[in-house]
Amino acid sequence: MTVADQHAGSTRETGSDGRAERVQIVEVAPRDGLQADPADLSTAQKVELIERLVAAGHTRVEAASFVSPKAVPKMADGEAVMAGVPRTQGVSYSALVLNQRGVERALEAGADEVCGVVVATETFSQANQRATVDESIQRWRAISATARAAGARTAVTVSAVCGCPYEGRVDADRVLGIVAELAETGPDEVALADTIGVGVPTQVAALFEGAAQRAGGVALRGHFHNTRNTALANIAAAIEVGVRVFDSSLGGVGGCPFAPRATGNVATEEVVYMVHEMGFETGLDLDALIEASTWLEAQLGHGVPSLVAKAGGFPQPR
Ligand code: COA
Ligand code: ZN
Repeated sequence: MTVADQHAGSTRETGSDGRAERVQIVEVAPRDGLQADPADLSTAQKVELIERLVAAGHTRVEAASFVSPKAVPKMADGEAVMAGVPRTQGVSYSALVLNQRGVERALEAGADEVCGVVVATETFSQANQRATVDESIQRWRAISATARAAGARTAVTVSAVCGCPYEGRVDADRVLGIVAELAETGPDEVALADTIGVGVPTQVAALFEGAAQRAGGVALRGHFHNTRNTALANIAAAIEVGVRVFDSSLGGVGGCPFAPRATGNVATEEVVYMVHEMGFETGLDLDALIEASTWLEAQLGHGVPSLVAKAGGFPQPR
């Protein structure tokens, strides 16, 4: 099965109901974005960020992570963030977890969706979560069982699929083998992440086509960092092979504390600008996102990489 088959009947043109086809954006600034930013936002600022994201139309927000506060001090207030966010109906507030303790904390805090990570290479896996790849797959099995039993959605990300900060090139077959194993746990989604932003469109298209063959019908999501300015090109390539769900981070903030030189996520407003102009709908308000991005810049006390935040949306006739 190809990714396109999984989305059978959906084409880029407007459907018979006259509505544009949808690309879904998962907002990761509150977690992937802030965990590596030099700024320390308060819990209240994180809560306001999430509220602004939801006000701009987001329906899926990665709100927090429940990992060791020693490993990632900036995410230590996960419980307080989840408790502080006013819940909006129809919005899924997800949390990243890497072990049993994490999933218990996330469920207790009211996470709608539990997200796990399995790194594709051994050295990075040790650096990130002090486990072999196999051990982290086993940890995910346990996390997934706990989350599903509690009625939470589950999603798991395979990290470093296009390249590893420690081991360099990553064998695509290895990535696809991990995808197949994770798909067996019955997640709502498997994501492929170019954590260090080294991927290029041809590689990304081939990986997603391969993953669709191995994922047994489980939906796929893309997660791209713009470290080498290839993220939007990679998203366009993934769209071409049928992927319709992508992570992005307001302003393009983010990185990974355990991946040297892994700078920003692709910026939400840049993805939204591109896919809207390509004819997709996202349910997001670009102007509101740009306003939120400018607000975030002020909170962080430094500029954000997003070009669309500087340039604005498509010019209106004067
Ligand atoms: N929540 C809170 N504290 C946790 C925790 C969790 N989910 N998991 C572990 N801890 C604490 C333990 O209590 C222990 O604390 P102590 O030293 O005071 O006793 C310490 O962390 C180590 O615990 P241990 O079970 O031995 O874990 P570990 O050392 O094997 O580390 C991880 C494994 C996954 C917990 C740790 O590497 C981690 O949290 N990494 C974060 C990676 C991350 O978030 N990366 C970015 C996103 S992918
Ligand atoms: Zn990331």
